[in-house]
Amino acid sequence: MGDLIDKFATRFREFGEIHIPEMSPFYAHLSLRIADDRELLEIALASGGGQPPPNLLFASIRFLLDRGANPDLLARYPVRFDTDIDPAVFDHFREFVFDHREQVEELLFTKPVQSNVVRRSAVLLTGLMRISSEVEHRPFVNIEIGASAGLTLLWEQYSYRYGDGPVVGNVKSDVEIETELRGSNPFDYSLDMPSVIDNLGIELDPISDADGSAMDWLRALIFPEHEDNRVLFDSTTKILKNSTPRLIHGDALVILPEMLADLPTDQPANIYHSHTLNQFSPEMRKRLDLLLRDASKGRLITRLGFEATPQGYSDLRLIKYENGVQNQDVVLANCEAHGRWIDWVG
Ligand SMILES: C[S@@+](CC[C@H](N)C(=O)[O-])C[C@H]1O[C@@H](n2cnc3c(N)ncnc32)[C@H](O)[C@@H]1O
Repeated sequence: MGDLIDKFATRFREFGEIHIPEMSPFYAHLSLRIADDRELLEIALASGGGQPPPNLLFASIRFLLDRGANPDLLARYPVRFDTDIDPAVFDHFREFVFDHREQVEELLFTKPVQSNVVRRSAVLLTGLMRISSEVEHRPFVNIEIGASAGLTLLWEQYSYRYGDGPVVGNVKSDVEIETELRGSNPFDYSLDMPSVIDNLGIELDPISDADGSAMDWLRALIFPEHEDNRVLFDSTTKILKNSTPRLIHGDALVILPEMLADLPTDQPANIYHSHTLNQFSPEMRKRLDLLLRDASKGRLITRLGFEATPQGYSDLRLIKYENGVQNQDVVLANCEAHGRWIDWVG
């Protein structure tokens, strides 16, 4: 158990030092305190370790707080970015966890990290613009691995503002996503949006908006300071009342080969995954690569991966598979993990 606790301490330390400081100083602060607190780490062990433990622990607490478990502690959660954190908040947080240990452990044991971040659609759209030019503007099928509630499958229903550019996309949408541009943007979104035949999601545990508790869990996964992301999430859930994303239940490693085999070979297919491969073992990642190589015999498959890097930010990568081989692997952009900024480098 000692070894496991040490591993968990490292996960919390890395979360607090590398992955989260720019996104949530509040969770970064708590995370670093938890990394030094063996009793709290013992509770965090209930998550098993297959899922990112810090996200799970913080979401479990937030889920209980949103249900009224401790309004005083909830009032100490910031709603906007602020690096001035009262160190005393950790003692309240810790006390809450011990007072609600059974409920927290139950959530840690049963809930997966399924954060579905609407703002990431801005990164997806930018990647799809590139895919569109790769396939010479022909229509293509877009398949997301790990689509959660399918909020980014609905990317065509949102409007976007990149930097100080014009609003593009579905300009009448109630959901407007803003993203900072660091560096240039090679695309003119107002001219040629990608032509997508279908947006399909494969998900181990699909979330339906009819399941209020599951949607509350998704909301609890949003970082405290990201009030704007909570607003986006809430407005998107209104869109869900009229548009049901096409989610296919199951393991992508099993479903993808059949799905790709069923598509006409002259129809380009793009596979997208965003912050999902951290839930894959190295062996699963290898299987994904092999199955895409195999499925590309006689057709073009593009793959867009928006995943975390060891540097703390995420990158958007394009991999191309053709005739059974991988013939391109290039970083298109460095991005904030939730799509708040994009630095196009491709
Ligand atoms: C952190 S969420 C990301 C959701 C979404 N892609 C986004 O960026 O907002 C990762 C999702 O991948 C799903 N997942 C993990 N392994 C999977 C697999 N083998 N097949 C299908 N879905 C999987 C999880 O259930 C979870 O909903």
